[in-house]
Amino acid sequence: MEFNEVIKKRASVRNYGTKKPDVELVIKAIESSNLAPSPGNLNIIKWIIVEDKQKIEKIAEASQQEFIKQSQILVVFCSDPKKAESIYDDRADRYVKQHAGAAIENFLLKITESGLSACWIGAYVDESIRAILGIPENIEVEAVFPIGYQAKLCKTKQKQKVSIFERVFFEKWNNKYHFPLEKVRREDI
Ligand SMILES: Cc1cc2nc3c(=O)[nH]c(=O)nc-3n(C[C@H](O)[C@H](O)[C@H](O)COP(=O)(O)O)c2cc1C
Repeated sequence: MEFNEVIKKRASVRNYGTKKPDVELVIKAIESSNLAPSPGNLNIIKWIIVEDKQKIEKIAEASQQEFIKQSQILVVFCSDPKKAESIYDDRADRYVKQHAGAAIENFLLKITESGLSACWIGAYVDESIRAILGIPENIEVEAVFPIGYQAKLCKTKQKQKVSIFERVFFEKWNNKYHFPLEKVRREDI
């Protein structure tokens, strides 16, 4: 799939069909995730692949999001901030979060390119996820991703994004219209 097509196709999908994704495709997406920029090239992110149906159901309950139960494979992004904290002190937290975001987007784009769908889940009870998966206290749960093939009857598309027109500034905060942004059509990216 062409790069721009992948970017435009990625969407939060909350309806999965019954076909189970091949774990190899998920591992390839994790490999892509691992190629994201990382502060000091540290190995901060760890991934838990969950295929056990009972665990997936418990994770859905810990998130209070019923649709997660449709998924047959789920990836939990975790971060181990210890090394970053020892090097970057009070900047470590933001570095870890920024790295997690970069790693997640690589992951989602690769999932999309593989013909799979996913949804970024950020709302859950951390302690419950920890208990279900045996995650220790010093490890942060960054996000949960149910993965599946989009249900055939469901035509979810990426949501319409608000134009960048009002939010791109030139040279200083709030300085707009230096360049006629309207000339750059979204279809052209
Ligand atoms: C940090 C973060 C947390 C999110 N948490 C949830 C969530 O708990 N449940 C959910 O259904 N979607 C969640 N989403 C997905 C957003 O709702 C979705 O990305 C947004 O509506 C834009 O739609 P799109 O991804 O299709 O472009 C989350 C997204 C982000 C970035």
